[in-house]
Amino acid sequence: MRAFTRGDVDAVFAYRQRDDVAAYLFDEPMSRETCAEIVQVRTTQVGWQDEGDRLVLAVERRADHAMLGEVSLILRNQVARQGEIGYILHPQYQGAGFATEAVRALIGQGFGEGGLHRIFARCTARNSASYRLMERVGMRREAHFREHVLVRGVWDDELIYALLEDEWTTLANNQPA
Ligand SMILES: CC(C)(COP(=O)(O)OP(=O)(O)OC[C@H]1O[C@@H](n2cnc3c(N)ncnc32)[C@H](O)[C@@H]1OP(=O)(O)O)[C@@H](O)C(=O)NCCC(=O)NCCS
Repeated sequence: MRAFTRGDVDAVFAYRQRDDVAAYLFDEPMSRETCAEIVQVRTTQVGWQDEGDRLVLAVERRADHAMLGEVSLILRNQVARQGEIGYILHPQYQGAGFATEAVRALIGQGFGEGGLHRIFARCTARNSASYRLMERVGMRREAHFREHVLVRGVWDDELIYALLEDEWTTLANNQPA
């Protein structure tokens, strides 16, 4: 994972323009112009100071530096140290465990230097790839809200998954050496 640079616009456009990537996101498929704008903002989203600040990182394959997608961690509550995680991979790079690896690393960073107490994530109940990912990294399903979100005019169920810092420590201690 690394900070975004201005050279990432085409790689971001490659996945953000796609209907299949946007299917369960609040954002519509994006134009190249919009991608250029969000990449510009992301070059500055490298840490937190205030509630609502976002850390947004590019996910790169170590072997060839291919840009695979993005992960984010938003400081939702500064006093209670609550963070929300998000993730998007280009479909070309899905199904190989890259998102799992990146999300684990970001959770470690959130509880480590980020000092968070609880990290949560949410998705529509139809996004099985997303909740399978949350379950793989050890997050617990905390809620299933019925018709809680309106996605492109359609009521949708929303799932909330979460992990506490001590649960993460227990998981880390139980990993095979
Ligand atoms: C959510 C999303 C990032 C998940 O991507 P993914 O490729 O399924 O996740 P990973 O990269 O961790 O790969 C895991 C898959 O690869 C398989 N895999 C292969 N090798 C693996 C490895 N070494 N480690 C872990 N998983 C591996 C897993 O079995 C899993 O497949 P399965 O779910 O069919 O069992 C992806 O679907 C996406 O970008 N969707 C569009 C954007 C989106 O909806 N984001 C979430 C909004 S809430």
